[in-house]
Amino acid sequence: MWKPAQRIRWEASEGHIPDIEEIEASKLFSPLECGRLKLRNRTWVPAMVPWRATEEGYVTDDVLDWYGRFARGRPAAIVIEATGIRDVPSGPLLRIGHDRFLPGLTTLVERIHHESSGDTRIFIQLIDFLAIRRRPNREKFLSRFLSITDDIRHKLDLVDTDESVVRQALIDMSDDALDSILTARDFESLTRGYRERVTDMHLPHVRDLPEVLPDLFADAAERAEAVGMDGVELHYAHAYTMASFLSASNTRADGYGGSVESRVRLPLEVFRSVRQRVSDKFVVGARFLAEECIDNGSTVDDVCVFAVEFARAGMDFLSLSRGGKFDDAKQPRLGEAAYPYTGPSGYECMPQYLSDEFGPFGRNFAATHKIRKAVRDAGFVTPVVGAGGVHNFEMAEKIIIDEVADVVAAARQSLADPDWVLKLETGHGREIRVCEYTNYCEGLDQKHKQVTCQLWDRIDRDEPGITKSRDGKRRMVAPDWKPADGTSL
Ligand SMILES: Cc1cc2nc3c(=O)[nH]c(=O)nc-3n(C[C@H](O)[C@H](O)[C@H](O)COP(=O)(O)O)c2cc1C
Ligand code: SF4
Repeated sequence: MWKPAQRIRWEASEGHIPDIEEIEASKLFSPLECGRLKLRNRTWVPAMVPWRATEEGYVTDDVLDWYGRFARGRPAAIVIEATGIRDVPSGPLLRIGHDRFLPGLTTLVERIHHESSGDTRIFIQLIDFLAIRRRPNREKFLSRFLSITDDIRHKLDLVDTDESVVRQALIDMSDDALDSILTARDFESLTRGYRERVTDMHLPHVRDLPEVLPDLFADAAERAEAVGMDGVELHYAHAYTMASFLSASNTRADGYGGSVESRVRLPLEVFRSVRQRVSDKFVVGARFLAEECIDNGSTVDDVCVFAVEFARAGMDFLSLSRGGKFDDAKQPRLGEAAYPYTGPSGYECMPQYLSDEFGPFGRNFAATHKIRKAVRDAGFVTPVVGAGGVHNFEMAEKIIIDEVADVVAAARQSLADPDWVLKLETGHGREIRVCEYTNYCEGLDQKHKQVTCQLWDRIDRDEPGITKSRDGKRRMVAPDWKPADGTSL
């Protein structure tokens, strides 16, 4: 992963440990009841893909164990990982694009209910993404896949020459020379792997996205309700289709790109289509970027407009993330696909402990605060979910007191210690295992390996009954927790 040049070493701390009275009087542990969104407190586990589904996208025992373990720590809400809404293969990511996925997802809901004794609300993140291919072998690409256009022939001065000669001439060139002969997109396909964009209007399936996506999202939401989920989070963040519609880089000229109003049009149409298809009690919110963190990305002012429009349309929550774009991702190795968390914008999404003067804790809060204020100033009370480096009570409480957000999402801290909320709530805050923000977990995610945390994945891993990762080296879920003073919970 990319890291800021300053490389200042930041350390997460347990902060002030509250006693039970303080917890009871806190904002963090106060209930939230706003329209359809009803949470027993303000804690939230945001979506985290653990690469534990089958290659066909079905729920596995490992998926059940992953979410069951979070649920045992009784967060007010868990958002199940980015789950594909289409019926197309997408590796070991969960899918909800067909009714055959319903039995597995039903079991998942039952497991979370059981482990949390019904305390945890369950939302599922619905994602659509465009095609991306691995970085190809140079010779194969130039000799087989590249279309030889008149433009290439003219630049090479090989207008009437046999195509095989043109291809050989390209193969014999340096990459620098190829850069001036190929189109920017072909050069990108060669050096980084082919990647579709929402602006590829020459591709019928991309041009027709506004026609098909509202129904695809609505079908998926209907399934989520059928299996007993409490709601859906529309994935409008990071590097994926809906975020690309919101992005300032979306120049579509069909009324779905260009101005802020046109860029937010499809996300609103998707939302309305979903809302119409689910019952009145079912929660529908969205996760989107407070800042894209790329050159010429949407400004926070653009995002204030998006957020106000989402609130006006009746979304039940607005969850804000940051960065995570393909635009500045590192060049992948040969045979690998680009990964949107390897460049500076990826750092902004999941910053680690080696950082700059702003540090890895709360990089999204200024923008989140501004966006929440715009929503409130427009007269809407829609709850805002904030995230980024939250790892202790003090920090979480301050976010709510400072009106940055109404709900506090903690991803890596919840992975490091799935019981951290329960420990606080029961007066055992001293026993919290604080995340070190090393991004070992993110490294596993990047390699599409089953995600675990380095703070616990070697503990008692060879004990009987412990499930291990495919490589046999790591336990799959955090060890059970019992209070050190022997009190029973
Ligand atoms: C392993 C891993 C997988 C993630 N998968 C998703 C995802 O599916 N959808 C999403 O919106 N964010 C995803 N994220 C981002 C987190 O939800 C969160 O926004 C980010 O980690 C910053 O919060 P934190 O500092 O509390 O970890 C993932 C993060 C990690 C570490
Ligand atoms: S591996 Fe564990 S300690 Fe390291 S960043 Fe991930 S959750 Fe935190």
